[in-house]
Amino acid sequence: IEIKSLRADTGGLITLDPGYKNTGSCKSAITFLNGEKGILRYRGYSIEELADKASFLEVAYLLIFGELPTQEQLDKLYKDIKKESHVDEEMKKILDGFPKSAHPMGVLSSLTSALIAFNPSAVNVDSDEEMYNAIIKLLAKFPVLVAWTLRKKNGQPLDYGDSSLGYVDNILKMMFKSPHEEHYDLDPVVSSALNKLLILHADHEQNCSTSTVRIVGSSHAGLFASISAGISALWGPLHGGANQAVIEMLENIKQDGGDSKKYMGKAKDKEDPFRLMGFGHRVYKNFDPRAKIIKKSADQVLEQLGVEDPVLDIAKGLEKEALEDSYFVDRKLYPNVDFYSGIIYRALGIPTEMFTVMFALGRLPGWIAQWREMRLEKEPIGRPRQVYTGENLREFKDISKR
Ligand code: ACO
Repeated sequence: IEIKSLRADTGGLITLDPGYKNTGSCKSAITFLNGEKGILRYRGYSIEELADKASFLEVAYLLIFGELPTQEQLDKLYKDIKKESHVDEEMKKILDGFPKSAHPMGVLSSLTSALIAFNPSAVNVDSDEEMYNAIIKLLAKFPVLVAWTLRKKNGQPLDYGDSSLGYVDNILKMMFKSPHEEHYDLDPVVSSALNKLLILHADHEQNCSTSTVRIVGSSHAGLFASISAGISALWGPLHGGANQAVIEMLENIKQDGGDSKKYMGKAKDKEDPFRLMGFGHRVYKNFDPRAKIIKKSADQVLEQLGVEDPVLDIAKGLEKEALEDSYFVDRKLYPNVDFYSGIIYRALGIPTEMFTVMFALGRLPGWIAQWREMRLEKEPIGRPRQVYTGENLREFKDISKR
């Protein structure tokens, strides 16, 4: 492309960077990521330490408000969340309108958008108090929607959970309490594994869905509308939808006789659209630190729960083969966060179609933090330019002469 054509009509120079591979869209103090060295930190704290020692709600506070909370701050946050955890009964009618076969990500994005109608005060966030209230409402109601999405899929009555439980345990109860049983017995292994997974997914700087949240939010469309858009962006198999696609791929390999080499061959064949799902990352070019933690965790969770999953062996085999294959080595393609997460979700009893919903649940605090930062920094509306490659001025022809 000639430099001349990179000039906007106004005479300014336009940089062309499809996929924004080298373009920073904002300044941010939330998440630090070094793709070459495989470093990920939230507000300066290493992901390894947070996944090991923190609770998901502490991490949410850290991401959104910038510091790890004191016990008092954490208690207040959770008290405020509990007060807002009711979802308008009319929302159940909207959920009812979806067929049971609807993909949970479509349902979640629609319900999140529908929340606006029942919480109109959360749209204008001109004061700190209004912004705080909108954030609390979403942190409170989003897990309810996630649980409803699953229960709808399973044909179970909807539930509100138990406010005496912690944030993550309450989510588990809302999702999994059987309608036929009085009590829900929390399994500490499940609870700890979910806590870790949610933390690992909580933020990842300017990825596709987060950039979507920021750009939609930059038009002042409101928090809920921005997050609903982020959910749609996350849904795609090249992004968050990869966790579902990975398990489906591993299942296919298993049913096809377990010949992973055949699928490696397909992934390398440029005529074949097949890609090895869960491999590759735009930024990580040596390893994804989250994948390292998740791989170890998958082993532990399966062992602790006494689950034997042959798909884990296929996954490990694929990883080993890829690490020795020049196609993957040359392109620096390593397992990403989604390669092993599905195996854990499955062991926890979460249906495959819900995997990306679980990702959204984890990513919610990051989206909120990024949206809040964008609004507090008074960022201008996001509006990229383009390089026009179409026709020059043409004369209009009447339809009879075309
Ligand atoms: N399998 C086979 N080849 C691959 C894969 C893969 N999974 N990923 C990338 N490649 C190849 C490409 O074909 C390309 O090869 P070429 O140079 O010969 O043309 C090269 O590696 C570079 O790939 P790009 O698509 O240009 O890399 P990009 O940074 O645009 O894409 C992405 C990154 C989308 C993650 C890609 O690696 C991919 O599609 N992976 C599979 C889906 C996936 O796991 N997504 C989850 C990402 S993590 C997350 O969002 C939470």
